[in-house]
Amino acid sequence: MARARERLIVVSNRLPFVFRRGARGEWEVEPGTGGLVTALLPVLRHRGGTWIGWPGLAEVSRELAAKLEAVGEGSGYRLRGVQLTAEEVRDFYEGFSNQIIWPLFHDLTSLCNFDPPYWRIYCAVNRKFAKVVREASEAGDFIWVHDYHLMNVAADLRTLGSKARTGFFLHIPFPPIDIFLKLPWRLELLEALLQFDLIGLQTPRDRRNFVQCARALVKDFEVEGRGQVVVARAGSRKLRIGSVPISIDYNAFMRQASTAEVAGKCEELHALLPKRKLILGLDRLDYTKGIPQRLKAFHSLFARYPDMRERVSLIQVVVPSREDIAEYRGLKLEIEQLAGKINGSFVRPGGWVPVWYVYRSLTRTELLSYYRAADIALITPLKDGMNLVAKEYCACNIEEEGVLILSSFAGAAAELGRDALLVNPYDIEGVADAVRRAFRMEKAERQARMRRMRRHIREYDVFWWVDAFLRAAITKDLSAFPQPEDRALEKGTGELVSL
Ligand code: UDP
Ligand code: G6P
Repeated sequence: MARARERLIVVSNRLPFVFRRGARGEWEVEPGTGGLVTALLPVLRHRGGTWIGWPGLAEVSRELAAKLEAVGEGSGYRLRGVQLTAEEVRDFYEGFSNQIIWPLFHDLTSLCNFDPPYWRIYCAVNRKFAKVVREASEAGDFIWVHDYHLMNVAADLRTLGSKARTGFFLHIPFPPIDIFLKLPWRLELLEALLQFDLIGLQTPRDRRNFVQCARALVKDFEVEGRGQVVVARAGSRKLRIGSVPISIDYNAFMRQASTAEVAGKCEELHALLPKRKLILGLDRLDYTKGIPQRLKAFHSLFARYPDMRERVSLIQVVVPSREDIAEYRGLKLEIEQLAGKINGSFVRPGGWVPVWYVYRSLTRTELLSYYRAADIALITPLKDGMNLVAKEYCACNIEEEGVLILSSFAGAAAELGRDALLVNPYDIEGVADAVRRAFRMEKAERQARMRRMRRHIREYDVFWWVDAFLRAAITKDLSAFPQPEDRALEKGTGELVSL
């Protein structure tokens, strides 16, 4: 498959590193956070190519460009920065991307701020990205654009005369039509997206939502055939639309979690929190992650089942994110109050603490140690494109005795729904009951479930995802495209499986 080896140009709002000025004016470089960066970093390291994105600060300087060049050197891929002004960061990143598309696509319409200037700046910044991509690319390259910040880039590239083939992957969910219709710029956005040659979405449900919206809104839009990847026509244009679930570098997580250093840290953690099962919640600070609801479930667990007190502790890690947006600051306060309320109600002075709350980014070793030490992972987003934390937890569970409790509304539920304990994150008592069930689950059942999930994640890892995506862009033989399970809602039982 010669064309799969063509030069890869990855374009995303975030680069894998965030650059800041330290107190004395020196450059500080930190790893970026979030699923997009975690997933793409091993891909670029493995395949090479160029990664174009925003270095995370509003500054224009030659010095920064040189710094980017230096950080990229030796990594096997090139970094190229798109610099944004303070106004662009406010209206494009914090505004259109994170106060319109992010809440809307996660079904949280009431959190949207449909401010008209946000759209204009979004269009302008997309053109800015497209110009940098145009300069950095040639006709034979494959340009792979990522996520909701950059949905206009293919259309802008065409206007600039680019002939390179383009693909787009949406890391977040695509909403159902009744929600998408609320977007004032719904048609412009859909028509721009249809300028990509391939559109990848996380789950069959997201693909169905996208196709339904395009059918309803776009003139002369038609889809041929069925399956994981479909060929679509929009007027004279032909493109492909597929569901290709993103994943992790399974082997790297497993290998790193097996080291003596991580094992030592796990023992320390269990010694610090002895004679109880450890439950892990680990999320970016985000209202889509369902952290307050999860804490309320924990309160309900100890209030309704006093026998559970002193037998479990929740380690809740919250990674700082988007702190310049008001909703995120408010959420932080709410989480702190809820954690304080649980501890205030149930703590045993001098002994058991129900909730361990950590608010910061973790080092890799810390992250792996929490994953490996946790007896149960409690992952309850209200809605999530995939949720890589769920897959990372399984990869690091090398003893294969852990239990994954997972929201039905996470993309990961489409693949792991048979072996995780699926919950409705809005059902506070239902989540508490799932924790109790996980706590009491026999070892043989835990092992069987965890083994199956790990086997799936190992097989469909991040390298499978890249190959599958690139293959979908070039092959007509759609049967060559492996299909993870598309699970259905279980009728007549009231049980949510996955949607
Ligand atoms: N993560 C991180 N910094 C941390 C802790 C975790 O970057 O201090 C990573 C984590 O390993 C995972 C990602 O953040 O890869 C979160 O991805 P997920 O898909 O679960 O959610 P997202 O944050 O992208 O919404
Ligand atoms: C999610 C989005 C990514 C984003 C990440 C971190 O994973 O899908 O596009 O990069 O969150 O958010 P941030 O706003 O810091 O880039």
